[in-house]
Amino acid sequence: MSAEPSLPTPSPRFGVWLVGARGSVATTAVAGCAAVTAGLHPPTGMVTETTPFADSGLPTLSSLVFGGHDTVDCPLPKRAEHLAEGGVLPHGLPSAVAAELAAADREIRPGGPLPGDNRTQDELISTFAADITDFVRGHDLAGAVVVNVASTEPAPARDGALPPSSLYAAAALRAGFPYVNFTPSTGLHHPTLAAAAANAAVPHTGRDGKTGQTLLRSVLGPMFLQRALSVRAWSGTNLLGGGDGAALADPAAAAAKNAGKERVLADTLGAAPQGEVHIDDVPALGDWKTAWDHIAFDGFLGARMVLQTTWQGCDSALAAPLVLDLARLLLRAHTVGLTGPRPELGFYFKDPDGAAPAALGEQYAALVDFAARLRAEA
Ligand SMILES: NC(=O)c1ccc[n+]([C@@H]2O[C@H](COP(=O)([O-])OP(=O)(O)OC[C@H]3O[C@@H](n4cnc5c(N)ncnc54)[C@H](O)[C@@H]3O)[C@@H](O)[C@H]2O)c1
Repeated sequence: MSAEPSLPTPSPRFGVWLVGARGSVATTAVAGCAAVTAGLHPPTGMVTETTPFADSGLPTLSSLVFGGHDTVDCPLPKRAEHLAEGGVLPHGLPSAVAAELAAADREIRPGGPLPGDNRTQDELISTFAADITDFVRGHDLAGAVVVNVASTEPAPARDGALPPSSLYAAAALRAGFPYVNFTPSTGLHHPTLAAAAANAAVPHTGRDGKTGQTLLRSVLGPMFLQRALSVRAWSGTNLLGGGDGAALADPAAAAAKNAGKERVLADTLGAAPQGEVHIDDVPALGDWKTAWDHIAFDGFLGARMVLQTTWQGCDSALAAPLVLDLARLLLRAHTVGLTGPRPELGFYFKDPDGAAPAALGEQYAALVDFAARLRAEA
């Protein structure tokens, strides 16, 4: 009797669980992953698609399966249509990737807590953890990563109550999945979670993606320092609309965001210069952000000079490829058994974990070393 022909082993698939799954960044990440997988667009802006990462064993884009939590119910295909009308997604893309958007939409579960929800913190954490575990089992996934891309929260009061971002972060750890905090919200940075974060059996990283003004600051700050030019003041103003602009119209949420932007200057220059950062909500601008920086500095013999920069970016188009990068990197880190905070990924964040360098060049070198480590563990 002849032996049964062996069936090819299916390639492993991995989950990306987005907290804030119906938002601009999340929708752009899901639509963008499908578009690049289908060959409709090149992976512009995805660092993990460049040569240093080629053999690092990262999950392929086509192996990613999306799901998540949100507190609103606008279907993802509809959300993508709105983004295309605003020029964030190319016209025609929502219909070209309609099947992938609909598949991710089916995997979005109700987030929380909404007003009137009287579940305890522990019940909320257990529900969120069970939702993620069910998703992973339901799709027979080889692993999953939880990525927070929900609206920025105000910094929590010091009364011990966990803000929503921390409930989701605790749920990721409870379910045993890596966690990325792409927002300035508290996430794992809550005193109640400090020990769990430090000793986590999964890798985690954050916080607040560095996509525009702070990206530029992490390049220019070291330049002034290395050229021995003395920065007297560094002031910034941001104009943006969209859901992020609306959330940051709350001064407490804006304060959480600005702390990260200012930290980059203190870390790269050695001390925080004079000057502040302001964020203005301008709904008419939608997802298009203008970030203006005014840097007053002294040169030789006290000569007074000024550098001004104007960054005009499409926020979600800048953020989404980084979300895909981070998901792939942490999925791989988990597969090879790395645990705890990953300062090697400081390249991506305004307020990175642990002892990450603050200058973009050093952060990139650390990231490339990390890619080599992921390769060596293969
Ligand atoms: N360049 C960038 O776009 C960039 C850079 C760094 C950080 N971020 C951060 O990414 C986050 C998302 O930005 P966006 O433009 O997609 O915002 P958005 O307003 O379009 O989306 C946020 C989503 O989070 C959902 N949400 C709110 N509370 C929730 C909860 N408790 N549980 C689950 N979902 C919840 C909202 O319903 C919404 O769908 C923001 O915190 C922003 O500060 C963005």
